Amino acid sequence: MVADSVTVRAPAKVNLQLSVGPVRADGFHELVTVFQAVNLCDEIVARPNPDGGIRLTMSGEGAEDLPGGADNLAHRAAVLLAEALDVPPDVDLHIRKAIPIAGGMAGGSADAAGTLLACDALWKGGSSKEELAELAAALGSDVPFGLHGGNAIGTGRGERLTPVLSRGQFSWVFALADGGLSTPAVYRECDRLREGRSVPEPYVSDILMQALAAGDAELLGKALHNDLQRPAVSLRPTLEQLLVAGEDFGALGGLVSGSGPTCAFLARDEEHALDLAVALTGTGLCRSVRRAEGPVAGARIVG
Ligand code: C5P
Repeated sequence: MVADSVTVRAPAKVNLQLSVGPVRADGFHELVTVFQAVNLCDEIVARPNPDGGIRLTMSGEGAEDLPGGADNLAHRAAVLLAEALDVPPDVDLHIRKAIPIAGGMAGGSADAAGTLLACDALWKGGSSKEELAELAAALGSDVPFGLHGGNAIGTGRGERLTPVLSRGQFSWVFALADGGLSTPAVYRECDRLREGRSVPEPYVSDILMQALAAGDAELLGKALHNDLQRPAVSLRPTLEQLLVAGEDFGALGGLVSGSGPTCAFLARDEEHALDLAVALTGTGLCRSVRRAEGPVAGARIVG
């Protein structure tokens, strides 16, 4: 029996550490990053398309700003999987967005990861985790983590993952900015700011690993680090005020999420996160705020 529809939930991520090393021959940067998946999720629904081909529609958070056609990462994910499985790429995909667009939280990557999983189930592909991860890596640096979830160290361009265990849950407040930042532009600004300086090979922070293992939010707050923060702030100077405001309101730590412009603030617990969210909303420095907890599982079939 062919399933009528498959629904997948795919989480956003925050980089607890993002250390950017030298530029490689392929133009990507050598990274050491520590990802955490958080329960701010897009939903991907895959159904058979009686007309044939890929039909992609989107709704929710900023959906009207996304490319609907072959440029959309979810569309590319469906094409790539169909090629790998040698099946016709016939699917009706609908994505309900909750993850901010171009916000540094890997929303597009989550949609691609979710699409791989949903289409594989719809088309009865039976792909292994490893096979899907390989396709994910071909789609983008953050897509494998969208499938993996939890906490993980990412090396290479971010696609090679090693799981990291942690204790308990961490409470976050994400402050969403107006408009996105282009990831390539932020990396280019990073290169510009570093011009003429030698860039050391990045390594994982021991303190960060200790904080995760112990479930110590206070220590984690101190260990948060993102090399893309300076370039993101250079391109969007108002982010500096937002980061200072979060600190003033008692966040255990705050940083630009990935390539930004979303800023992530770590709270002591859910109650503190609620206070922090209210205080940040009142500053007028962000478009809106979202609370989320991590770590959570990667993309998974929910129906
Ligand atoms: O892999 P992904 O398509 O998400 O990367 C988007 C862009 O971010 C790349 O085209 C590149 O400009 C930059 N990038 C990089 N080094 C990485 C990851 C991304 O320079 N490790």
